[in-house]
Amino acid sequence: MYAEKVLSGMRPTGRLHLGHYHGVLKNWIKLQHEYPCLFFVADWHALTTAYDEPETIAESTQGLIIDWLAAGVDPSLATLFIQSKVPEHAELHLLLSMSTPLGWLERVPTYKDQQEKLSHKDLSTYGFLGYPLLMSADILIYRADKVPVGDDQLPHVEFTRELARRFNHLYGKEPGFEDKAREAVKKLGSKRARLYEELRNRYQEKGEETALEQAHVLLNETQNLSIGDRERLFGYLEGGGKMILVEPDALLTESSRMPGLDGQKMSKSYGNTIALREDEESIRKKIRTMQTDPQRVRRTDPGEPEKCPVWQFHLVYSGEDVKQWVQKGCRSAGIGCIECKQPVIDAVLKEQEPMRERARMYEEDPQLVKNIIADGCEKARKLAQETMRDVREAMGLDYT
Ligand code: TRP
Ligand code: SF4
Repeated sequence: MYAEKVLSGMRPTGRLHLGHYHGVLKNWIKLQHEYPCLFFVADWHALTTAYDEPETIAESTQGLIIDWLAAGVDPSLATLFIQSKVPEHAELHLLLSMSTPLGWLERVPTYKDQQEKLSHKDLSTYGFLGYPLLMSADILIYRADKVPVGDDQLPHVEFTRELARRFNHLYGKEPGFEDKAREAVKKLGSKRARLYEELRNRYQEKGEETALEQAHVLLNETQNLSIGDRERLFGYLEGGGKMILVEPDALLTESSRMPGLDGQKMSKSYGNTIALREDEESIRKKIRTMQTDPQRVRRTDPGEPEKCPVWQFHLVYSGEDVKQWVQKGCRSAGIGCIECKQPVIDAVLKEQEPMRERARMYEEDPQLVKNIIADGCEKARKLAQETMRDVREAMGLDYT
């Protein structure tokens, strides 16, 4: 139940580009081999800012999932689903909202930042203020330990940790907790019980984080524990109550080294992107017309790769030999810019070939995507329902 789990989501706001691929998706594709992963389309999050044009969300959702699959997210390894198809997220969001101090939400830096950035929209709404809380519900409902996000999302993960702590503090108390926890320790068997006690002491007396981690591993490896005892044993390590919700850690996604066509960060708002699965001819044209070192006006003028956005692409796509060829050829005017761009064009097209292939398969058979999502939603929903059962019980809402 508490096996390490990765969870991440993306808002469906349009087609993905190479920046997303090199920043986020490659990381997801790596993680899916290392942990059980849950990846979802955060369509309700998109609705917090696009509430006046919900049709854009529906369109983007399908395309987003195909982009993931095309890039190599593997539905036999990772669970793919859509947030709004797991309504338990909304229930947890509501229950958490009861005890979430307004000040915590108002203090989240993205709240004011985004309001200013999207000033053409009225974002003084209840839903938008609750954006981080919804994200917390997304994470906590799967008891996810690891949340890969970019640095802009770190405050949201920190907020989630505080909420989990507050929830456990408020609702993790039960009469006779200490006695029940000690009984649960005995059920570990004498060897494990001794190790558990030792690790607990080391953590509580000396604050050794590694002891806490080892104890978590120990509990994760122990089967045959009831849910209640498990929550008690996790909680007893750190303090005086059951641990019903798990504090997640952010897995900081290194920011993409992928520059845009103009050398700035690749971003839709700068109009400098190459989409995943973009038309081949369009890719060729975009790269051929890319800016180069402004000093290189004529073919005979030497240039400086460091001042050229094309060089940034070589750093992502080219091997040592090609990079040396560029450096030498550019600085000596031995090669022309069109020549220099060709290996980049080839590499981008080659990278997209398998993506286009996979996407074609899914586009030709929409039922395939539907099945993947139906399957993923069902799996996710089961996990979410388990947590909600515990949450309702802890809050005393399990009456009939
Ligand atoms: N807020 C995230 C973003 O804009 C998307 C998101 C929603 C998310 N819920 C999440 C990411 C839960 C990680 C975990 O990128
Ligand atoms: Fe840029 Fe290559 Fe032209 Fe040099 S030769 S300016 S690196 S495109």
